[in-house]
Amino acid sequence: AREYDFVVVSNRLPVDRVVAPDGTESWAASPGGLVAALEPVMRAADGAWVGWGGQPDLGLTPFEADGIRMIPVDLTAVDVEYYYEGFSNDTLWPLYHDVISPPSFHREWWESYVDVNRRFARAAASVAAEGATVWVHDYQLQLVPKMLRESRPDLSIGFFNHIPFPPYGIFSQLPWRTQVVEGLLGADVIGFQRVADAGNFSRAVRRLTGHATKSPVIEVAEDDGRTRSVIVRPFPISIDTANFEALARKASVQARAKEIREGLGNPRTIMLGVDRLDYTKGIGHRLKAYGELLAEGALKVEDVTLVQVASPSRERVAAYMALRDEIELTVGRINGDLSTISHQAISYHHHGYPREEMAALYVAADVLLVTALRDGMNLVAKEYVASRFNEDGVLVLSEFAGASDELKKALRINPHDIDGLKARILDAVNMPYREQQSRMRSLRKRVAEFDVQRWSREFLEALAEATRTRRGTG
Ligand code: G6P
Repeated sequence: AREYDFVVVSNRLPVDRVVAPDGTESWAASPGGLVAALEPVMRAADGAWVGWGGQPDLGLTPFEADGIRMIPVDLTAVDVEYYYEGFSNDTLWPLYHDVISPPSFHREWWESYVDVNRRFARAAASVAAEGATVWVHDYQLQLVPKMLRESRPDLSIGFFNHIPFPPYGIFSQLPWRTQVVEGLLGADVIGFQRVADAGNFSRAVRRLTGHATKSPVIEVAEDDGRTRSVIVRPFPISIDTANFEALARKASVQARAKEIREGLGNPRTIMLGVDRLDYTKGIGHRLKAYGELLAEGALKVEDVTLVQVASPSRERVAAYMALRDEIELTVGRINGDLSTISHQAISYHHHGYPREEMAALYVAADVLLVTALRDGMNLVAKEYVASRFNEDGVLVLSEFAGASDELKKALRINPHDIDGLKARILDAVNMPYREQQSRMRSLRKRVAEFDVQRWSREFLEALAEATRTRRGTG
């Protein structure tokens, strides 16, 4: 029934499967940042969340998890292979991340993407109340805004892209580039992470369509001769800062951080990397720089350990399998060459961890290394900052991560410049406490002020304003 005033649409539902001691399965809302930001809006506005349960053929019907109404979209095994692993993660993902890995273009994948996007649009249209607000998320669902507008012109439609939008020279490789751009332009507001992403999108619109663009507005010429304004703007996403800091302050997390340090043999410096195991994250570049510093004696294995958490991701996509082999070979070589019986060079973990454990790792780490080759935002950088309530610790941050637009007092690096990266790692390890503090204070101020609640508020205000103007009620 069409009954929800606020509908979120994303590829994955924000739920985790919970198995009770007696074996019965249920779903609980996952404690991610997006849910935290949208939960209050959901409750206030009678909200629902449309998405996939994460496995093929679950056959789920709408259900409630922690007070959030979930509207599942079922995917078959073929949908998962063509739409999710194929077009989303072996075409769009590498294309939108500067072709770090070569994208594959397959017409059957595209057809599946169109088909699945249509099913998401139908699911959203079937639950959205008259005049409702629908917020569509990320690259897996770029056709949904136009499909929704065609069937439900009454809706207020927002789209936010969580990953980069590439320069036209790269985007133009996509055989279906015009359809993608037109798909997105079905929205009233299209949000991107960085100023550069919004600029890249506007340039693609100019090259591919006849629509007039005058930042931040694109005048879309409709078939009936009328024009409709679309707002295109950056809205850099963030984390639930207060919540994350509170987690880091918990006595249990503090105790766990101490235990982690002791478990590693109380080294003078713990460096930390936290990433999905993805070729965009520059994990190999990080390992190369670190391995060279140890081999040359600039760092000593008695003094420093690198903890690398590489959480499993998209494991059936070939590029991810190859990456795992490459990273694990490198970690094995560095440890084999440079570890001693009592001191390990790299403590490597191919696991995902609960938030509490992550917070303990951030509290334990003196230096966080973010060396992404391209990253929409990188929330790990912000989580580290939020956890450092003692105001010490050093963030080494790639200029190719969206976060570097905001986190100006991080040590900025170009991960391709291995010598530069090595120099900054040494600066981080040797940074005097006073300098750590003055940098961390400034970083913390930014992350405290610009949290995910503010992000969603600003997006939804811009969307409400754009819709009022379009409806002529502004
Ligand atoms: C990135 C994307 C998300 C995606 C997440 C995990 O952050 O922007 O849309 O959900 O990676 O990837 P997965 O393929 O497991 O959903």
